[in-house]
Amino acid sequence: MAKYWGTYEKAGKWFTIRNAEGADAQKVIHFMEYVDRETTFLLREPGEFEADYPLEKETELLSSWTEDPKHLFLLAETAEGEIAATCGCMYNASRKRTRHLGEIAISVRESFWRMGLGRKLFEIQEAWCQKNQVEKLCLSVDTLNTRALGLYLSRGFVVEGTLHRESKMADGSWRDMYRMAKFF
Ligand SMILES: CC(C)(COP(=O)(O)OP(=O)(O)OC[C@H]1O[C@@H](n2cnc3c(N)ncnc32)[C@H](O)[C@@H]1OP(=O)(O)O)[C@@H](O)C(=O)NCCC(=O)NCCS
Repeated sequence: MAKYWGTYEKAGKWFTIRNAEGADAQKVIHFMEYVDRETTFLLREPGEFEADYPLEKETELLSSWTEDPKHLFLLAETAEGEIAATCGCMYNASRKRTRHLGEIAISVRESFWRMGLGRKLFEIQEAWCQKNQVEKLCLSVDTLNTRALGLYLSRGFVVEGTLHRESKMADGSWRDMYRMAKFF
């Protein structure tokens, strides 16, 4: 049974937004390879995603998330079936003291930036969190990522602190991250 299915339109372009399934694994791997080449704001060097998640493993993972009430991994797909964006959200139900915490992460392909997909995917995930008793939704973001910060601040996330030298780039330079949260 689909966990989420909907459509989104911007400037005559239609997207299907739905939860990913095992059969999407190859497309998801391709998407991750693509976005890792387009931005330095994700925590991977190009090629690392596929090395960590070969097809069989990614298929199993997506299938398990489809069945798992604690995960919602969304895709936004074009009419041609190309993935334009992904947004994953999860909570951990095994510890009572942290049951109220959720974690979210998003990637939109550059050719689909500024079309409202980020905002739309966050809206869906925040509603899912509230339905599932998540009271604090958390994320980490590179302090230089003004585009993502614009999205998060506009949705009511606040900076809780700075994590220094959280990622080390291929050229040896460091990046700091903000830890952010939204309280429902
Ligand atoms: C950051 C990202 C998710 C934004 O997605 P998007 O679909 O382009 O965002 P939207 O079109 O929904 O815009 C939502 C809001 O983000 C903010 N925003 C978007 N682009 C911005 C920019 N260049 N500068 C400042 N704020 C910006 C605005 O507040 C915007 O709202 P508005 O259009 O009403 O002004 C997307 O650029 C992306 O995936 N980048 C690469 C990967 C990445 O950085 N992921 C986040 C890791 S923490």
